[in-house]
Amino acid sequence: MDIEDTLLMIPGPVKVAPRVLRAMSKPMMSHRSPEFGAIYEDCKTLLQEFFMTKNEVVIMSGSGTCAMDAAIGGLMDRDGKIVAATNGKFGERFTEIGDRYGSAIPVNFEWGMPFQPDSIEAAIEDGVKALAMVHNETSVGIINPAETVGKIARKHDLPFVVDGISSIGGNEFLTDAWGIDVAITGSQKCLAVPPGLAVVAVSERAEDRLVEGCGSYYADLRAHIKSARKKPAQTPYTPAVPLFYALQEALHMAKEEGFDVRRKRSQRLAASVRAAAGALGIEIFPVKGEFSEYSNTVTAMKTPSGISDDKLRGGMKKHGIVVSGGQERLKGKIFRIGSMGVCSEGDILRTIQTLEMVLAKEGVIGELGAGVEAACKVLDG
Ligand SMILES: Cc1ncc(COP(=O)(O)O)c(C=O)c1O
Repeated sequence: MDIEDTLLMIPGPVKVAPRVLRAMSKPMMSHRSPEFGAIYEDCKTLLQEFFMTKNEVVIMSGSGTCAMDAAIGGLMDRDGKIVAATNGKFGERFTEIGDRYGSAIPVNFEWGMPFQPDSIEAAIEDGVKALAMVHNETSVGIINPAETVGKIARKHDLPFVVDGISSIGGNEFLTDAWGIDVAITGSQKCLAVPPGLAVVAVSERAEDRLVEGCGSYYADLRAHIKSARKKPAQTPYTPAVPLFYALQEALHMAKEEGFDVRRKRSQRLAASVRAAAGALGIEIFPVKGEFSEYSNTVTAMKTPSGISDDKLRGGMKKHGIVVSGGQERLKGKIFRIGSMGVCSEGDILRTIQTLEMVLAKEGVIGELGAGVEAACKVLDG
């Protein structure tokens, strides 16, 4: 497989625009310099708009999990508890992190099934320090009801932590309007930057509750906030400087397109994938209901009968298209197509065409064309 000629259609890391890749090849600069501070400030301003927030924004060198760690570790002392609502792999990560710093009270729903907000509220007890959830559960392609759960957090005066890693910039995500105290994203998703940076927006309410000398040294949010407020803005430790160049370029690129225009593009692309799936007799995996929606950034579909995961994804890869499989208990049962960042209509059509080719070869469908036609109708509509 020639990586230069491969189309990456997984739900992160995603395709990066050449303009953003080029930005990373600039010479290094001191991370304590006014020049670096100006880049950080510029990114912060654009990120506030991207997150729909007036809250403090910090950029950490580390993947999305680093920010999840910082959020939970920062809000908990050893006797503390967090309530973590879960319907997929990444929600479970909040439980695992909570158990490291104190203890987690998991509220588990089946993977791909909607949250039941009443059960989440019922799990809140004395000693709970935060309520955490994933907005766009990448492992199953579902959007969870952040606004509704946010109201529960507010009612119980709990900081509300939301993993928006595969959501912010691709789904509607209203940090301030939904009362999200700690909102998180990762560079390799809707921002379409290479992996390695995590962004956290922290409300004053959450900041007031950050534990001094929290369990993590590196991912100490208080330290990151303190440095971000310096003039020039800084990070507590040496950041991934080339990724800051990339982030700044990618944010300007997204701003030029319009953050909202880009978000709506993801929405249209995901709708076209679902339409194609319907035309090809492929079932969408997550369950849509009162408290859930289909993701606009990743579409999870059941592997059709008559073809194995190996043949489906392996066959597509031979034709230069990389899509994701299921994780853990969903291995071999689902496959996932991403539609975030700079993903284009052409990328989606090529992906669906290749999927059809592989399905036809294995005798799962008789004729070529129904998926592409259904997708085109959405894209053209
Ligand atoms: C919703 C969600 N949360 C957390 C993560 C973990 O992020 P990272 O792999 O950047 O640490 C991912 C990565 O795919 C994700 O999609």
